[in-house]
Amino acid sequence: MRFISIITTTSKNNLFILKSGVSLKKLSTVSSKDIISHQTFKFIDYQFPEKIAKSRQNIFEKSFFILPDVVTDIEEKELVNEIEISLKRLRYQHDHWDDAIHGYRETEKILWKNDKNANIINKLKILSFGNDSKTKPMQQVHILDLYDDGYVKAHIDSVKFCGNIIAGLSLLSDSIMKLTDDTDPNIFVEALLPRRSLYIMKDDVRYKYKHEVLARSDKQFKGIKVLRKRRISIVMRNEPIM
Ligand code: OGA
Ligand code: MN
Repeated sequence: MRFISIITTTSKNNLFILKSGVSLKKLSTVSSKDIISHQTFKFIDYQFPEKIAKSRQNIFEKSFFILPDVVTDIEEKELVNEIEISLKRLRYQHDHWDDAIHGYRETEKILWKNDKNANIINKLKILSFGNDSKTKPMQQVHILDLYDDGYVKAHIDSVKFCGNIIAGLSLLSDSIMKLTDDTDPNIFVEALLPRRSLYIMKDDVRYKYKHEVLARSDKQFKGIKVLRKRRISIVMRNEPIM
């Protein structure tokens, strides 16, 4: 089986796709550097203080990746159709001021009725956890539906519930993720998460940076306005290390 069948024809130019001959079996022996798109830099705006910029950027390049266009429009639609069924009865939560997330509903999903969706999730898991995962990927994925005005406040995922890797597929809307050093608010980056992209956050970035998904605003990314609308993410994690 060809792993790269999830990649759309529109992403032919990704370095990522240069590895399209890599089979599922071989994938686990390839280092993430070989597979992961060298396009990540396009989606990151480093805001590090100059003195530490270089060393911080080195760390980032090893532990945070953004892969554009990992699913097609049609695949996005099929995923969203099935997700909508799981979310149907849930109401958006707006009113908990102390919550980490605002304007959202969420669920967990293990089984996918549509085989195509199941295949996509499997392949994204191999891509995200194939190399550097210290524990098994969790079977269930976390679905987070942020309403137009929803947002995720800065946090670090608890080590009680998650291992060294977190990966998220963004559907329906572009958004900006801000990652801030846990000990110093002046050390941060902004990352553009394009619709239909996958981000992979591991090790140093996963443990030492808070992450947040910004609310709708006039915020620009590298001078371009990002229109945040309703966004659904499929967040995949590995088992906690214990
Ligand atoms: C979370 C989270 C980010 C996303 O649910 O812990 O950080 O991409 N979600 O939805
Ligand atoms: Mn999180």
